[in-house]
Amino acid sequence: MVSKNVGKDRENESLRHTRIMGRYGIENIPKYSFPENGIEPRVAYDIIHDELNLDGNPDLNLATFVTTWMEPEADRLIIENLHKNFIDHFEYPQIKEIEERIVNIMARLFHATDGGDFSGTSTIGSSEAIMLGLLAHKFNWRETRKKQGMDYGKPNIVFGGDTHISWDKFARYFDVEPRIIKISEEKFTIDPEDVKKVVDENTIAVGVVLGTTFTGEFDPIGDINQALLDLKREKGLDIPIHVDAASAGFITPFYEPDFKWDFRLEQVKSINVSGHKYGLVYPGLGWLIFRSQSMLPSELKFNVNYLGDEMPTYTLNFSEGSSMIVAQYYNILRLGMKGYRNIVMGMMENARYLAKKIKDTGMFEVLNDARHIPVVTFRPSVNLNISPFQISSRLRERGWIVPAYSLPENAQNITIMRVVVRENFTRDMMDIFLNDLVNMTESRKDMDDVMKNNNKKTSHPIS
Ligand SMILES: Cc1ncc(COP(=O)(O)O)c(C=O)c1O
Repeated sequence: MVSKNVGKDRENESLRHTRIMGRYGIENIPKYSFPENGIEPRVAYDIIHDELNLDGNPDLNLATFVTTWMEPEADRLIIENLHKNFIDHFEYPQIKEIEERIVNIMARLFHATDGGDFSGTSTIGSSEAIMLGLLAHKFNWRETRKKQGMDYGKPNIVFGGDTHISWDKFARYFDVEPRIIKISEEKFTIDPEDVKKVVDENTIAVGVVLGTTFTGEFDPIGDINQALLDLKREKGLDIPIHVDAASAGFITPFYEPDFKWDFRLEQVKSINVSGHKYGLVYPGLGWLIFRSQSMLPSELKFNVNYLGDEMPTYTLNFSEGSSMIVAQYYNILRLGMKGYRNIVMGMMENARYLAKKIKDTGMFEVLNDARHIPVVTFRPSVNLNISPFQISSRLRERGWIVPAYSLPENAQNITIMRVVVRENFTRDMMDIFLNDLVNMTESRKDMDDVMKNNNKKTSHPIS
């Protein structure tokens, strides 16, 4: 059937050519200084749209934890709310109401139900949530030290070399000494014994990661909690844990509901999670939840009245979009516990399948076979004589984006590749990927063999 828009499309197409060719087809577009005159909307759209075609395809981006697909109904709600500034609570009270509902939902998901005294906020992502959580711990520690008449000039924070860069950022931006526990070539997470060795009366908090950015593993949260409880009993030091559950916060409650990692552990006082990772919402959205309202010092809450009512805020940014908060609520209503559980189980099953298939090729060593979250890390076998960087760049030729990187200090000689399995990485796509992974690795090896033989030929010519 011929679309009735064909005529219109042709007209638009010719318009596009005329305008672009007429104006910019043979000229460069203005790039680094403000153009004096504007252009037609359609032309501006086409120019930008065409240039962005050079970006990678988000569906083939196996590097990112961040959501790249949502249902059309969610997209519609996102567009409908794009023009609402979240901070305008007086003007848009229902968005604020929805945010508070989600804080309640997340706090209950993380078992912060003792007396229902929790508190929390939405953020731009986990990075902002981590900074705000740790800032609260810094203020609380200082307050306690002041009350005890003790020095409060040298706060420190303890976390592992396996944490995300946002932890180092917090330490530097907010002037707190980072006490970083190094990982090793044998173990890519931290140890409770090491935590015990470095904490002291100036430690504002211990950071524990569930789903490290590097390998997707979990720090031993139960043991670290126990080590801090022992310390509390032995020395009277009450050091809070902040859990960075950027990825696992939307996985573990569904995949391992009996695994105690959250407010069921006594020393866990705050948790961050990214809504835009396995919360299944586009960027940028994060959540910060405190076990109790008393964890959030009143000095950190700012009341603004110039938008109408007196409104307390606890964010680093002032203005912020509303759409992703609305989109998170859409997912929660649309999927429910059952829906999230099904999606999480599906992703975990697929990730395990991928890990097994990669291992079965006999060409790779699998470092993490999606033990807790749907992340698979692997590296080529030594005898293949090919680096993860080479495989990564060859895969890019097919459109696949798979990062290759070295592990943090002390294990920096280990380079690995990581695939983050998301909802839209289906079994069929996975099989195509596996095929490409093997082909690219083999053909590269063949190419290297040819090069080596060629070199041999050059150095030992047959005459
Ligand atoms: C463990 C961990 N923490 C924090 C972050 C930062 O999260 P966001 O990108 O939501 O700011 C990431 C991002 O990948 C992460 O993996």
